[in-house]
Amino acid sequence: MKESNKARCGVASFACAAIAASIAGAAPVIVPAPREMSVTGGECRMSGEPKVETVAGIPPEGYELSVTKDGVTIRSSDAAGAFYARMTLAQIEQRDAKTKAKVYPCLEIRDAPQYKWRGVLIDDCRHFFGKEKVKRVMDLMARHKLNRLHWHLTDDQGWRLDIPGYPELARHSSVRAASAKHGTRPHVNMKDYSSLLNWEKYGPYFYTEADIREMVAYAAERHITIVPEIELPGHVYAALSAYPELACFPERLKGKGPLCAWGIEKDVLCVGNDKAVKFMEDVLDYVCRLFPGDTIHIGGDECPQVRWKDCPKCQARVKAAGLRSEQDLQPWLTRHFLQFLAARGRRAVGWDEYLLGDVPQSAIGMSWRAGGGGAGHKFLTPLECVKRGHDLVMTPRTHCYLDYGQGLADDPYQYIGGRVTLEKAYSFDPCEGIPQELRAHILGGQGNNWSEYTWNEYDLEWKMWPRTCAIAEAVWTGDKKPGFADFKARMAQHRRRLLASGVNCAPIE
Ligand code: ACM
Ligand code: ZN
Repeated sequence: MKESNKARCGVASFACAAIAASIAGAAPVIVPAPREMSVTGGECRMSGEPKVETVAGIPPEGYELSVTKDGVTIRSSDAAGAFYARMTLAQIEQRDAKTKAKVYPCLEIRDAPQYKWRGVLIDDCRHFFGKEKVKRVMDLMARHKLNRLHWHLTDDQGWRLDIPGYPELARHSSVRAASAKHGTRPHVNMKDYSSLLNWEKYGPYFYTEADIREMVAYAAERHITIVPEIELPGHVYAALSAYPELACFPERLKGKGPLCAWGIEKDVLCVGNDKAVKFMEDVLDYVCRLFPGDTIHIGGDECPQVRWKDCPKCQARVKAAGLRSEQDLQPWLTRHFLQFLAARGRRAVGWDEYLLGDVPQSAIGMSWRAGGGGAGHKFLTPLECVKRGHDLVMTPRTHCYLDYGQGLADDPYQYIGGRVTLEKAYSFDPCEGIPQELRAHILGGQGNNWSEYTWNEYDLEWKMWPRTCAIAEAVWTGDKKPGFADFKARMAQHRRRLLASGVNCAPIE
């Protein structure tokens, strides 16, 4: 990585974005594109601040931006709208080379997001980024009018939250004995993958209460809601390795630590054990106290039921709760935690499999298997989800999985597989296949940065950008998207802004 690429600039400092934008005579380049814009000709030279007016009736997060020769006026009905107007202004700002005055092209913009959920998932379990790097992600999200940081904090490979009453989570579950050697693909189903591991201790890496409060405040300043994810009942191996008594067969976990390979692990939470349910209640209660957002993600993906089938406690739960079989245990647990979160004023969101079975409509789905479930995996299609009355966040892996290859001619980084080109990401339509009358259930969409094969922030940025720009346009501009050719032309310039801000943005090919 070149030293120049390591220069950083945050939201509060727009200088680097502005420098790269100052391409004489260029049409204003805004990403994501505003839904309505007319360029009226001429320019505004400004030394002061824009006039900001609160006007009822402008949609939530929306704004009107009027640039005339006499000055700049921002109108919005809420603070988020005014913030996004400033994000747009930062992109169109140029500097007079001599006087250094700010110069804007005269234009009128009426803009508002098509979708209210415009997200980015960061996987801090497989690779721990830490506060400063996650803040950096939030800076870049804000510049692209993205408003949900889905923070994947617990998984088989690491637990990243200190939880009062469970000290082993921070001490034991945040440390991995080894990770995959770069270029290898160890998988939990392999008989012996030890030669594929680097045997370097990874951790302890976790966030304290003070860290989380700092991050929540940082997000709020950028109109970002953090959606913490606590995986249950699967993907909990890191926690079980510290507290084996929470698993169906504790002896299987004794002496173990977080997994060093990736895949779908069969040892999951013992849903028949009241102590295991209480553990998750304690965790989620604390999470609700730390994170003020309206939704909490409770995972729910890739949970095998083989241990439940053989576990006396789980089978006793099946009987006592009047369930048909262990297949009903996950919906039983989901119903429990929907109620638990509702009592704390929150809605649960979970990966699409968690909607299988008897799950109330209040459960929000996060649809990732759309476009193909993979052999042997049951899931509900987006249409089935919304027909059942669930709200849905779309993150189809066909368009939104940024750990998939981007199809570049020359790419130094490792991907998990698959392919999501920039054009494919741009074609993301959260409402695809959903009839008009059910579209209100589609809350929006997000790009997912799973980090099994991401080793640092440069690697992350390369995978995120420019594809996250395409996703931002899908969820902000939505059905008013000007098309891929227009986007590509704007991105040629916008990429220069990102590079000038030190972002390791992949090329536009
Ligand atoms: C997922 O990619 N397992 C949600
Ligand atoms: Zn069990």
